[in-house]
Amino acid sequence: MSIGIGYGKVILFSEHFVVYGVPAIALGITNKAIVEIKKSDSLGYTSDTQGTIPELTTKSIRNVLEAMNIKENFHVHLKGDLPTFGGLGSSAAFCVAVVRALNNEYKLNLRNEQVNAYAYEGEKAFHGNPSGIDNTMATYGGAVKFIRGKTPAENKFEQVKIGSPLHFVIGVTGISSPTAKMVAEVRKFKEEEPDQFQNLCDQAGEIVKRGEKALASGDTKLIGELMNENQFLLRAIGVSIEQNETIIKAALSAGALGAKVTGGGGGGCCIALAKDEKHAKEILNAIKEKGFDRFITSVE
Ligand code: PMV
Repeated sequence: MSIGIGYGKVILFSEHFVVYGVPAIALGITNKAIVEIKKSDSLGYTSDTQGTIPELTTKSIRNVLEAMNIKENFHVHLKGDLPTFGGLGSSAAFCVAVVRALNNEYKLNLRNEQVNAYAYEGEKAFHGNPSGIDNTMATYGGAVKFIRGKTPAENKFEQVKIGSPLHFVIGVTGISSPTAKMVAEVRKFKEEEPDQFQNLCDQAGEIVKRGEKALASGDTKLIGELMNENQFLLRAIGVSIEQNETIIKAALSAGALGAKVTGGGGGGCCIALAKDEKHAKEILNAIKEKGFDRFITSVE
């Protein structure tokens, strides 16, 4: 048996727009997918965590095996503490964990770059048209500015500076919306309203520029304001549903500096920025009162 790990992420700025080449900023979180693999006569998948889609997951394992040119079959078991309802890069974390487990099994000594490329092939089973930000984050972690290239090899990413510790609360809607579905809905919006969509992309690009500076200087107030601005854009493209709005409202009422959908939306997760650790607990309670699952994550 071999084990592999992949970490989750939150997108702080510019999810969805990143699919169309706008830069995005994402932050690695410590919640992770852990997979155990065992050689088996046929491909198999089981999970301790709720909300995964076995057909897509099995396809993603097959994609990874094919990309790595591995002819043997495995039973793959998923565990860990990364919610799989969407928004936290759980499918990419799973793919990275599978690649790393295979790396351990066959002692391949893969470089991060190869792990990332194989995981991207697995991600395609879930996403259809993934930007590559999730598998990049699950491979490298940290705080990253990501720009999609014309091909995965042309993707660019760099670590961004974090000027002061950031305390986030993640609110989990419990509603699972496949990222592929959300990305397809946004594509439809883009095709129907090309000018408006371009305008929103431009605004997202500006938020990222200002956000990068605010992160570097540790200006948490401005980071929060930019998160709120980003949420306006996410509303405009229709990926923030009632449950997202309830969590966001609860967080803002509890004094969050900013709150928004993170990731694909249509449910999934929201992220709220707290002033400090104590304040994060207050926001946590406000989200709890509305009946949603929630947890705190920090970025140093
Ligand atoms: O919902 P998640 O964690 O899979 O994040 C998706 C991020 C999108 O920008 C919506 C899609 C993508 O491939 O970048």
